Amino acid sequence: MKLGLRVLPVLVLGLAAHATQNLDHLRILGPQGVNLWKLEKAAAAAATPELFAQDGSSQLFQDTEDSIAGFKAQWFRQPVDHFDKSSNATFYQRYWVNMRHYNATKGGPVIVLDGGETSGVNRIPFLDTGIVEILSRSTGGVGVVLEHRYYGKSIPVANFTTDNLRWLDNAQSAADSANFMANVKFKGVEEDLTAPNTPWIYYGGSYAGARAAHMKILYPDLVYGAIASSGVTHASILNWEYMEIIRNAADPICSGHLENSIKTIDGILENGRFKGTLKRLFGLQDLRHDEDFASVIESPLGSWQSKCWHPDFTSTTFDDFCATLDKPPFGSEISSLGQLPYGSPGRMITLPGGLAVDFTILNYAEYIKTHIVSRCPKGLSTEDCFGTYDDLKYEATDISQEWRLWLFQVCTEWGYFTTAPPYPDHPRIVSKLLTLGYESKVCHQAFAPGKHFAVPSLPNVTVVNDLGDFDIAADRLAIIDGEVDPWRPATPHSEYAWDRADTPLRPFKLIPGGVHHYDEWGLLDLADEPPEIRKIHEEMIDFVGEWLKDWKAPLRD
Ligand SMILES: *[C@@H]1O[C@H](CO)[C@@H](O)[C@H](O)[C@H]1NC(C)=O
Ligand SMILES: *[C@@H]1O[C@H](CO)[C@@H](O)[C@H](O)[C@H]1NC(C)=O
Ligand SMILES: *[C@@H]1O[C@H](CO)[C@@H](O)[C@H](O)[C@H]1NC(C)=O
Ligand SMILES: *[C@@H]1O[C@H](CO)[C@@H](O)[C@H](O)[C@H]1NC(C)=O
Repeated sequence: MKLGLRVLPVLVLGLAAHATQNLDHLRILGPQGVNLWKLEKAAAAAATPELFAQDGSSQLFQDTEDSIAGFKAQWFRQPVDHFDKSSNATFYQRYWVNMRHYNATKGGPVIVLDGGETSGVNRIPFLDTGIVEILSRSTGGVGVVLEHRYYGKSIPVANFTTDNLRWLDNAQSAADSANFMANVKFKGVEEDLTAPNTPWIYYGGSYAGARAAHMKILYPDLVYGAIASSGVTHASILNWEYMEIIRNAADPICSGHLENSIKTIDGILENGRFKGTLKRLFGLQDLRHDEDFASVIESPLGSWQSKCWHPDFTSTTFDDFCATLDKPPFGSEISSLGQLPYGSPGRMITLPGGLAVDFTILNYAEYIKTHIVSRCPKGLSTEDCFGTYDDLKYEATDISQEWRLWLFQVCTEWGYFTTAPPYPDHPRIVSKLLTLGYESKVCHQAFAPGKHFAVPSLPNVTVVNDLGDFDIAADRLAIIDGEVDPWRPATPHSEYAWDRADTPLRPFKLIPGGVHHYDEWGLLDLADEPPEIRKIHEEMIDFVGEWLKDWKAPLRD
């Protein structure tokens, strides 16, 4: 899931493109970073034959033989619209299967991982060494990664116009999973492994974690057990608490630097006198709108979510950023700016023009210039790269514009606009210019009303919250979260939620020091995992084992 959404338009090749971070792409928190990354992805995707069925008629199968880490893509036919039977359009949903541990005598279970808001390819590590492998191994079951409609190659439409995105919603996606569970026939398996004749355990992390919980509520007859990891079962318009987790969990010296510099920066932007000097310091003198400036300098914060215990997937960006903020001037006697109070004479520097600022501001500017502004391609202005007020940048709707997908879900059902705290005196590490109006304007820039569908003025988060919100609960529904996950305020482990007991039937576990769905990654030998990860994996193996002991095949008529 992305940190609210940061949209960074970049004009390249005469094409306006921009991207949002989705929940799992928070690593791309910065608008600019997001854009460039997305453009690279789009270029890579364009090089392979894209697979889509226009009105269900012309499915291409060039990549049936696609194989990743030894797992071959397979395809399952789905209706584009599960609820309107007047249309016959279908598309193919991609999935991958891990049969390494399958015991035909036992005939199950099936552990299915919902791919969520990204290509299923990005979930293959979970099938290979992560949670799906771990639970398939412990149960002698089949492991599956099921790609989400519209993402990766499970694309039901010819383009991503507003009208063509109208089948991208929670109800349709959940119905895909239910149809798959009830009807899939795995290649090379004689036994009937469909639900409810075989126990299915539905796993998801982040947005897909909410889906896992929802599946247990919506399709209790098909979903025997479900595990919601960092499952954001509370949708909300404002997601200011995201930054609160970071403010409170980061090294206090770093949080202090951020709070103080943001206060100074907001003061300068408000006062206006040294605004030009300030923006120039960050290399952003050409960026017209102060809100865009505030948004660009917020971008390193998204890297908090990219922390990961698994050495192959971790990011050190957040800590590098903090180290930069804390660097004393060259030749200084102190080793950390934090050794002197903010604004004390030993930390001040006067810039040409007369603006005197704390050295942290200089460090902050240096970081943004080096790591973010520098990504703006030569020949483009920073307004071209980071400005968000030109509607033309959001015009392209072809299927390489993957940024439109999660953004559409945000704008229709999920929200999570990452704003500054809505209370003026509340401490904050982001600018107060990051308001709901600024964060949500992209919904109307990107999705012009269609003939069949228009994006609402604000997302209807009731669609999500009606399914249980913070209090969502069921037997054999496990809730697993991370203590310092910036998404924790949107899960049943939020401070706003009722506390509840942790039992084998209704597991409720918080991973100490955990960030975003930490249990989803795994190592082939659990003994090599860090102690808190090994512990959660052993607990998951135990409770899934207990659940399966209670399983009884439904009576057949
Ligand atoms: C749906 O399929 C049926 C049977 O193949 C056909 O008679 C009908 O015309 C189709 N409807 C549409 C809307 O294409
Ligand atoms: C497969 O399951 C059966 C029945 O539970 C069990 O007896 C057998 O030992 C299992 N086979 C393997 C290879 O684990
Ligand atoms: C998008 O696809 C639809 C068919 O689904 C087509 O009618 C429409 O012209 C396309 N629009 C654009 C802008 O490509
Ligand atoms: C929002 O969603 C709820 C639940 O699905 C629905 O009852 C309500 O009518 C929707 N509100 C609007 C304004 O569409």
